[in-house]
Amino acid sequence: MRIYVANDYNDLSRKAANIISAQIIMKPNCVLGLATGASPVGTYKQLIDWYNKGDLNFEEVKSVNLDEYKGLGPDDEQSYAYFMHSNFFNHINIKPENTYLPNGLEADEAKECERYNGIITSVGGIDLQLLGIGCNGHIGFNEPGTSFGKETHCVTLSDNTIDANARFFKSKDEVPKQAYSMGIKSIMQAKQILLIASGENKADALYNSILGPITPAVPASILQLHNNVTIVADKEALSKILVEHTITSGGNLQ
Ligand code: F6R
Repeated sequence: MRIYVANDYNDLSRKAANIISAQIIMKPNCVLGLATGASPVGTYKQLIDWYNKGDLNFEEVKSVNLDEYKGLGPDDEQSYAYFMHSNFFNHINIKPENTYLPNGLEADEAKECERYNGIITSVGGIDLQLLGIGCNGHIGFNEPGTSFGKETHCVTLSDNTIDANARFFKSKDEVPKQAYSMGIKSIMQAKQILLIASGENKADALYNSILGPITPAVPASILQLHNNVTIVADKEALSKILVEHTITSGGNLQ
């Protein structure tokens, strides 16, 4: 695991975008696992900027998103499909048919989970998975207590996550109670993982994920077992870890 300390959110976004760019340059037909939420917005902006400057080409890139609210379709402004189009896909030359998200409008859970697992397999697995982290240590919508062995599944969101995501909705009541999420097993099969975290409210989750026991109670703690994980986080998100450790410029925890 390598950990890079960012000075601020802009620096974090630039560092993360650099890592994703390297992946695209080295493998133009790579499969990117993508995330939504506040954390990756700056990373997507930076990638769009480099695309506009002619430094990046998404023509052969495929993407598979982590999750989608159950009940929301792509035209709903709160859906993750809408988020991905407005924050990223509409501004680059990725082919729409190469971008995949769970279908929030599919009511048949078993059918949708099987379809999405099939997509992940058919694209040949994920080369680089971008992750944010929830304050409770969730990755994707894999809430504390979720078995590490799950592939795509339908999740009942925890109160903690509903509270955290209410900021994107008019009221807490509007936050969907369920979502489709890629499972931890699928995330762990990605060849490379890039986790980004910003702000002091992520400090406990990051500390427990990196230095605590590997347990479903802290879903991101499983990343300790992956052999190619890069974390880019600002000083606030790393504050608890930095009390006990130093992090070298090369990304090693000491
Ligand atoms: C989003 C996702 C979530 C978020 C996490 C952090 O696709 O899977 O796990 O990454 O909730 O969200 P933000 O970045 O908004 O703090």
